[in-house]
Amino acid sequence: MDPGVVQNLVQQIERKDLSTAAHTWRVVLYTRAMAESLSIDHEQIALITQAAALHDIGKLDLPDHILQKPGKLTDEEFEIIKYHPVSGSARMIDLDVTEEPILDLVRYHHERWDGVGYPFQLKAEDIPIGARLFAVIDSFDAMTSVRPYREVLGDKAAELALIELQAGMGSQYWPDAVEAFTELFKSGGLDHILHYFNDEVTLPAFEHARHVQFDAIRNRYSKL
Ligand SMILES: [Fe+2]
Repeated sequence: MDPGVVQNLVQQIERKDLSTAAHTWRVVLYTRAMAESLSIDHEQIALITQAAALHDIGKLDLPDHILQKPGKLTDEEFEIIKYHPVSGSARMIDLDVTEEPILDLVRYHHERWDGVGYPFQLKAEDIPIGARLFAVIDSFDAMTSVRPYREVLGDKAAELALIELQAGMGSQYWPDAVEAFTELFKSGGLDHILHYFNDEVTLPAFEHARHVQFDAIRNRYSKL
């Protein structure tokens, strides 16, 4: 996918909602670290990294009052949230994106191993492998990101999140993905990401970080 288009879309996420943008960058870094630990080839890593950067692109189509609502969502609001993998993949198709790893991640990142995820209720190995791996990363970040209602943060939050991931092995999550993520986390390979923009963020700081991150990834993988 054209690197300029990816950057432009990520920039649109920043302007829409900084919290989604901060989450996006952390999951990009987790995904890249996971892919590197699994010795995936460089071309695939570039694609998977782009896919992670774009996974929530459908949130551009959500109303601000739902996306930025600080409290619990109503059932009706959650039904609207569930639409974002569909609107995200529609955006990708409009942009003539054909790379399967990108389309798969945008479409299927909220599917669950036991088949009760959304929006397609795919089950187990019917879920593309990248989306199965990514679901664990996405949930871990959701459980460890700074939120007004969350009292436990940082390393303690990570510890609790890993327990939750273990509890969801075979139901919400692909067991192999939980094992791989847990192993990598316990090796200390993800510590720096846990705290990355996981606090008050400002748009200028974020814009700077986006340039730094895209440059770093481009230098290493040339495709992004
Ligand atoms: Fe999402």
